Amino acid sequence: MCGIVGYIGTEEAAPILLEGLRRLEYRGYDSAGLAVLDPEQGLQVAKAKGRLQVLADLTGQGQKLTGHMGLGHTRWATHGAPNDVNSHPQVSQSGRIAVVHNGIIENYARLKEFLESKGIAFVSETDTEVVAQLLDYYYEGDLLDAVGKVLHRIEGAYALGIVCADEPDRLVAVRKDSPLILGYGANFHMLASDVTAVIQHTREVCYLEDGEVAVLTAYGAQVYNSLLQPVEKEISHVDWEISAAEKGGYEHFMFKEIMEQPKALRDTIFPRLRDGEVVLDEVSLTREELERLDRLYVIACGSSYHVGVAAKYTLERLLRIPVEVTLASEFRYCDPIVTRRTLAVVISQSGETIDTLAAMREARRLGARLLSIVNVVGSTIARESDDVIYTWAGPEIAVATTKAYSTQLAVIYLLGLRFAHLLGTVGEEEYAGMVAQLRQLPAKVEEILSDTEKIQYYASIYFNHDSVFYIGRNIDYAVGLEGSLKLKEISYIHSEAYAAGELKHGTISLIEDGTLVVALASWGDLFDKLMSNVKEVKARGADVVGITTRSHGAELAKSVDSAIQIPDTHPMFLPSLEVVPMQLFAYYVALMRGCDIDKPRNLAKSVTVE
Ligand code: G6P
Repeated sequence: MCGIVGYIGTEEAAPILLEGLRRLEYRGYDSAGLAVLDPEQGLQVAKAKGRLQVLADLTGQGQKLTGHMGLGHTRWATHGAPNDVNSHPQVSQSGRIAVVHNGIIENYARLKEFLESKGIAFVSETDTEVVAQLLDYYYEGDLLDAVGKVLHRIEGAYALGIVCADEPDRLVAVRKDSPLILGYGANFHMLASDVTAVIQHTREVCYLEDGEVAVLTAYGAQVYNSLLQPVEKEISHVDWEISAAEKGGYEHFMFKEIMEQPKALRDTIFPRLRDGEVVLDEVSLTREELERLDRLYVIACGSSYHVGVAAKYTLERLLRIPVEVTLASEFRYCDPIVTRRTLAVVISQSGETIDTLAAMREARRLGARLLSIVNVVGSTIARESDDVIYTWAGPEIAVATTKAYSTQLAVIYLLGLRFAHLLGTVGEEEYAGMVAQLRQLPAKVEEILSDTEKIQYYASIYFNHDSVFYIGRNIDYAVGLEGSLKLKEISYIHSEAYAAGELKHGTISLIEDGTLVVALASWGDLFDKLMSNVKEVKARGADVVGITTRSHGAELAKSVDSAIQIPDTHPMFLPSLEVVPMQLFAYYVALMRGCDIDKPRNLAKSVTVE
């Protein structure tokens, strides 16, 4: 979702800003803009609907805008259509103040009325223009002072980058409920919505907290609290390589990230397996605290929620503690039964999803302890949790998650095994067997990835279907949810996942000649039942792609049109293997349909508005 980058230093700002925006493209956007300030030329603004390339062409790759400081923005429309006028930066009526904004100003309508009553005319439909106009209204020669006044009047979520034509030596950044980081260089400073936008220039960053305001100059950055009192910030070093956020010869980030899964799994699992035991140094829950728990709540959105669905099957089986899985966007509104004996397990790749953040704050308010599974180090969800287990997937750029999903699943296994061992709910032998199987998981994923031709071939047979159903039972159903989401996200084919036993209760009426059904039949105990469901859909004309383990491969092949085999493993770890062919299938289908795989329409990588 919207991206912000700001630069102040000794170099020309516009090319740096464009490059930063390019690195933020993955977040999802529909228009982009730049504001560059030069003491002689004044404030120069360029905005364009569509891909960043349109803006780059408009500005001669940034050469037409001169100045050593400025702001860039990629917008994902919320208030007002995606067009040139509604794009950011938004500029005040006098032309003095320019603002870029991520988030939503909830009381913008009232503020707009107030400003209009003072004779100020608005040109856009955005909530952001209100901030620019209000800043100008309060401006009396000191931008920081004006920011202080505006912060008392605006409500909602915001990360703001602000420039004022009268103050060509400083940039201001503000954050509340929408991420913003600062980047530190020898003769420049930057601000950005995430580190990918600054990493090419600096690895020294700091994460702004809610309510903080930062003033950046070429040679320094001072952070203030909401009362504008100076605060000291800790500077963190980002230790991943820039190449991790580049395609490195692959046509798409999604494919690269699918292929990176064995490494991501090794990085996530291996350091936490020592001498045949799962060790989670980052979790401080004791056995006594675990024994007191009366329920676990898994809270997440999107694919992270699908990990939650799989987690319910895994954790209940291992821990014998009830596990509720709730969509974060529903959690706050469903009057959840949370007490001091509840552990909330919060799952988020970005660590910034606003619904997940709001839900975890509500869980905290109700007394839950918070344990998060997060990929982005230093993100808000990570910082606000009691315990954080990082997934070491590295930066994930493609909107459709693959390696983050896989590493989240791996953390669920680690967590389940560790807690089960502490609680004594799993026998020593089974525990040792599972730990051994877990260690082999990355190599098994590698094995699936070493032979993608068959899946590519199946994609070539089925890519023209316009409706696909994924069916499975138990944990196969959980992973079907993810397979179905992958396909619809990037190929725009209508697709749904169903618990196979539910077919007869409705979905079967939609099965007709040529409907594609993906049957997930890996859970051995339920193989026969699933085969009955396959027969039901085949009898109604469906084409069936089946996925199962090697031990059931021959049997599956007799009943389906196209069969895919995965290596055998402990049943609880099946989702990690089963998801891989489905990721590849979605990828190849989207490729054959000519879709924009890494940046699917209307979707955003990190959803920072409710
Ligand atoms: C967006 C992304 C999904 C992701 C979901 C939750 O919708 O496109 O891939 O699963 O947000 O994001 P999170 O960062 O909280 O895991």
